Parts: sequence; C-alpha cells; structure tokens
Amino acid sequence: MKMINLGSKKLASFYVACELYKQMHQEPNSKLGLATGGTMTDLYYYLVDLLEKNKLDVSHVETFNLDEYIGLKPSHPQSYHYYMNDVLFKQYPHFKKDNTHIPNGYTEQLEDEAERYNQLLNDKGPVDIQILGIGENGHIGFNEPGTDLHSETHIVDLTESTIRANSRYFDHKEDVPKQAVSMGLASILKAKRIILLAFGEKKKDAMSKLLDQQVTRNVPATILHAHPNVEVYVDDEAAPDHL
Ligand code: PGA
Repeated sequence: MKMINLGSKKLASFYVACELYKQMHQEPNSKLGLATGGTMTDLYYYLVDLLEKNKLDVSHVETFNLDEYIGLKPSHPQSYHYYMNDVLFKQYPHFKKDNTHIPNGYTEQLEDEAERYNQLLNDKGPVDIQILGIGENGHIGFNEPGTDLHSETHIVDLTESTIRANSRYFDHKEDVPKQAVSMGLASILKAKRIILLAFGEKKKDAMSKLLDQQVTRNVPATILHAHPNVEVYVDDEAAPDHL
C-alpha cells in the first residue's frame, strides 16, 4: 500500500479525477467502483469538468456504487441514488442508465437485494478502479468494525459513531438511517486497483491505524493490506505524523 500526502482535498481530488478519466479514455468499457460522502464532492466536480472539456464517450462505461442507506427512497436528497445523480449522472448525462448500478435500499426484500447486487458484481466484475472513502472508525463501504473479512454484499447495522457522523447531513438525528446495504470487504478486494481518499483532521486517527496495523476486524480498512494495488491519498490534516 502506498500512502501519499497530496496536500489538499482539491489537489488530491483533481489527481484522482485524472486517474478515472485516463482509465475511461484508455478503455471505453471500463468498470468503475464509485463511492459517495463528503470526501468525494470535489472528485466528481473535477471529473465532470474533464469529461465535458474532452466530450468523452462514456456510453460503454459501467459504474457500481459501494452502498446505499436502507429506508430512503431514491428521490430522498440524502440517498446515495440522489447523490450520484446530483454530482455525476445529471451533470454529465451521457452515462447509460442501465450501466449505472447502485444497491436498492428501498425494498422489503433486503436479503434478496443484497444477493442480487452481489450476483451482479460477480457476473460483471471485477472493477478496474474502486474508489473508497473511510469512516472515522475505519469502515470502508459501510463495513463497520467487526465485519467478517470474507463478507460479500450484505445488510449492515450502522454503529453509533457512523450514525453520529452522518447526522450532519440530516435535520434530525432520528432521521439518520440505522442500516445500509453495502458491498462486503471481500467484494471490495476483488477490484483490480483501489484508491482510497481521506481528508481532514477527523480522518487522521483512522489513517494512522491503517498505516500501523496489520489486518484486523477492528479497523476494516486494514484489509486493504491484503490487496496488491492500493493507493491512499490524504491531505495535510489527515496525514499521520510519521508518514
Ligand atoms: P465522508 O464519509 O466522506 O462523508 O466522510 C466517508 C465514509 O463514511 O466512508
């Protein structure tokens, strides 16, 4: 694993946007694993800008999102369906709808949905690049501490720490979803190349643990040590002191 401080969120986001752009440019039928959250906003801003400037044909690109909240309609402004439309698919409306995949968290048949999404990933994967954020508690996707290292797509009970971190996006704490459907750790590890982004002081502790610790269920991101092609880009605030 390479961890590199690129200075700021903007610089790191631009760098990774260029990597995604190059991937799609070189392979028109690229498969991308996408992430959401506050970390990713600048990444999509720069990616849309690059796509527009160069009018890249993305009609054969396929995207697979990591996770979705349970209980939110796709039209809910805090759902990850809404997020992806807002930051990417509406901004650059040339992705084919059938090629953009996000797990459905608004269904009674949750286990069936996890199974369906997992099958889709297995049938269509592996992705060429998987983008990841990280939780303050070290989660990737919504794989909370304690998650089975061999897990595939599954239904997750979010921890108190994650619910607290997510509450900044909701008007009332009781509105914050308590569950999510998420790619598992084994699903994430199938990607050919993984790029994790972490910005801000609140991610520094997770970055120190990721750098220092061997694979442990207590810090799910440490599973990335088991993958041969992982890059981690941080800003000054998230960089561990001993980087
Ligand atoms: P954030 O979330 O980008 O909103 O900080 C990241 C995560 O929880 O994985």
